[in-house]
Amino acid sequence: MIALRVAVVGIGAVGREMVRCLWQSSLPLSDEPLVLARTAREVTIDGKTIQVHEAHPDAFKGMDIVFFAGTEGEKGAARQFARPAIEEGAIVIDNGSDFRMVDGVPLVVPEVNPDDLEVLRGNGTVELPGVGEVPQRYVANPNCSTIQMVVALKPLHDAAKVKRVIASTYQAVSGAGSAAVEELEMQAHRILHGQDPGEFKVHPLQIAFNVLAGANWRFEEAGYTNEEWKMVRETRKIMHEPDLPITVTCVRVPVFTGHAEAIYVELERPLSADEAREILRNAKGIVVIDEPTQLPDGTSYRTYPTPLDAAGKDPVYVGRIRNDPFNPHGLWLWVVADNLRKGAALNAIQIAEEIVRRGIVKA
Ligand SMILES: NC(=O)c1ccc[n+]([C@@H]2O[C@H](COP(=O)([O-])OP(=O)(O)OC[C@H]3O[C@@H](n4cnc5c(N)ncnc54)[C@H](OP(=O)(O)O)[C@@H]3O)[C@@H](O)[C@H]2O)c1
Repeated sequence: MIALRVAVVGIGAVGREMVRCLWQSSLPLSDEPLVLARTAREVTIDGKTIQVHEAHPDAFKGMDIVFFAGTEGEKGAARQFARPAIEEGAIVIDNGSDFRMVDGVPLVVPEVNPDDLEVLRGNGTVELPGVGEVPQRYVANPNCSTIQMVVALKPLHDAAKVKRVIASTYQAVSGAGSAAVEELEMQAHRILHGQDPGEFKVHPLQIAFNVLAGANWRFEEAGYTNEEWKMVRETRKIMHEPDLPITVTCVRVPVFTGHAEAIYVELERPLSADEAREILRNAKGIVVIDEPTQLPDGTSYRTYPTPLDAAGKDPVYVGRIRNDPFNPHGLWLWVVADNLRKGAALNAIQIAEEIVRRGIVKA
């Protein structure tokens, strides 16, 4: 067996989690991952100091898989370095949103559409805007809020066909990168010490002790934000349902890690909450937390997942599974996952594991 050589580009919120997930993964790695960012320095993760090198087109020689966790856009990591990485023979798995919706680019959640990775076999090419035509060795990792939603939707879709989705998200600040985490810490500290919240750098409004229905997202078509449109377009692409009606409200909440989503699904055939619970319990990557429980005073309630339960963990947690009392085809779900793990780094590594399992990259 040949061991894999891997690189991680970007060592912010996602890149750090990527290194941690690589240390924990079953991928046969030849060595420590090569870590690249805009500036060279040492970084400490879980008490271990790693060397970060400056990203450079010549840095990818001999790499089998390169994970991108840099920022997007013209000066972003993938626009600058996807071509040299691919031309060196590596498969690129990109956390960024630059090319997710490009035709011919697989956008993959391994529990949902692993077969889409088959496009990487052979000698095809793909046209990446701003990069040009490259050999088809590029995979996009979806948006964090999309990943956890499709993991929950897929088993229900297989069982009863999803006809419509209405969702609201409650998204942690780490979804906007390490600067957003620092902003929440700083604002909370200042406010608790009787000061004003300070300068707003990432979020346009105060995020500490507040809830933002626009966060740092751009408002686009029909009054929806770009984050909301990402959830619509990416879900349709991943589920191979180009016309599935989906409407979303994305909200940023003052939580450090873990996105929560209230999802209403309308199904082709009626599905009881008990049936849905059983289907989700047996689905890959999902843990159902939805048990009847009694408090000492006799009050009864059902358990449900919170972002604190999900932070640092791999599964997508589902709770509050209940029927619409006015529509037997309607079902509510409460879906929670670690946005930096399943929502980003872990999903990217699971894509790599699937690529190796299929023999697309020989390890
Ligand atoms: N946070 C999430 O929950 C989440 C979920 C899904 C997807 N994503 C996506 O994952 C990517 C990373 O997000 P993040 O939250 O980790 O951002 P972040 O905390 O802001 O970190 C960005 C990292 O990228 C590096 N970088 C930026 N431009 C680069 C370039 N041209 N060349 C090399 N390195 C470059 C930065 O280097 P320096 O450290 O040297 O400045 C930094 O280490 C983004 O595309 C984001 O949209 C994030």
